Amino acid sequence: MAFEPVLTRNRDNPEALTVAGYRAAGGYQALAKGLRMEPGEIIDMVKTSGLRGRGGAGFPAGLKWSFVPKDSDKAKYLVCNADESEPGTFKDRLLMEKDPHQLIEGCILCSYAVGAAVTYIYIRGEYVDAAIILEKAIAEAMEAGILGDKVLGSDFSHRIYIHRGAGAYICGEETGLLESLEGKRGQPRVKPPFPAVVGAFGCPTVINNVETLCNVPHIIERGADWFKSIGTDERNTGPKLYAVSGHVERPGTYEFAIGIPFEELLDECGGMWKGRQLKAFVPGGASAGVLTADDKGVCLDFDQVAKAGSMLGSAAVMVMDETTDMVRVCTRFAKFFDHESCGQCTPCREGTRWMSMILQRILDGHGRPSDLDLLLNVSSHIGGHTLCALGDAAVGPVRSFVSRFRDEFLARIPEEIGSPLPVVR
Ligand SMILES: Cc1cc2nc3c(=O)[nH]c(=O)nc-3n(C[C@H](O)[C@H](O)[C@H](O)COP(=O)(O)O)c2cc1C
Repeated sequence: MAFEPVLTRNRDNPEALTVAGYRAAGGYQALAKGLRMEPGEIIDMVKTSGLRGRGGAGFPAGLKWSFVPKDSDKAKYLVCNADESEPGTFKDRLLMEKDPHQLIEGCILCSYAVGAAVTYIYIRGEYVDAAIILEKAIAEAMEAGILGDKVLGSDFSHRIYIHRGAGAYICGEETGLLESLEGKRGQPRVKPPFPAVVGAFGCPTVINNVETLCNVPHIIERGADWFKSIGTDERNTGPKLYAVSGHVERPGTYEFAIGIPFEELLDECGGMWKGRQLKAFVPGGASAGVLTADDKGVCLDFDQVAKAGSMLGSAAVMVMDETTDMVRVCTRFAKFFDHESCGQCTPCREGTRWMSMILQRILDGHGRPSDLDLLLNVSSHIGGHTLCALGDAAVGPVRSFVSRFRDEFLARIPEEIGSPLPVVR
């Protein structure tokens, strides 16, 4: 499927790391155009484009921006979510390392639209190179009058600060992120109020993912209709990055129109590793339910993946061949959520630990015949009973692995329980 890259057009152009090189590639024209528009016009344009958040939930970006109160005399902030902590996800890193000015341009445009004088880019601590590259690009943009007082000679002033996280999955959740940004323990807040009204430091705040913001300059420059012409339908528009890992010949970050069928994406990645058979795939990171080879025709957009029983999430596509032990993968995912639960909500703190212990005992060959029912029972007390979506994220994979590969789980469970008690680690 031939696709002219939009977001990754500068991935092989090291000159784009500088202001001059980025400008030579057409950069910062959208900013100049945007600053001549009314802020409300930008919000309307992004709304019309149909751009949905690329961080996981797929919430319409323009609609979120429109929730920021216009009559408030409080400071307003933009927080760019660069925590990229969903297992299997590495697309934002590429955007930050290869085209930092594209993100800066997107941040300034969004901030101008909602009236924010400051952007914080909250970046995961492990992304040392990306943080250094961004800091350098921000410093150069300040010198060039693209940031700081009177952006490009306009009446709008803006500053961007990098805030490095310490490496916790929960700090990717938007309100856990805000707590961490404010110097507190990264534990999610009760919503409502939503960050657009009460966000960073108690002020109205837009939180968007890196990829979401990188789309904005292209929408402003080429228009909402152009953006809408890419994708599967009105609800799934624009270019999309897919981070492909696992048993494929060429893992990596791929850009296509949102909604590329999974089997076409697999072809683009050189097909299955060593010509093996496809057994299963996860379309949206560890939080997304597993799909099987029978689902390989699914179009990778928000709605069709949901219809197939999973979610597009961050579009981290993990591919598994016929040799993959599904009990082991499921146990690994469960351990991740157990480890990353912040501990604030009892159902999540206790339930994720319980699920990972039950799975470990099944994996070790000491499972009990009632364990699968127990797992589903525990999961029903987590999902929908927590402050943030980590609880739902933790139960999604367990439920889908158990329901789609039940026989594999059953085959690991001895029919008779021997006298020694099961070993639980
Ligand atoms: C446990 C958890 C972890 C998350 N991690 C990330 C992350 O690493 N990066 C991200 O952009 N969004 C992450 N999100 C989603 C954010 O809460 C939020 O929806 C997103 O930053 C909004 O941006 P968007 O609308 O542009 O997608 C996470 C959500 C949850 C529940």
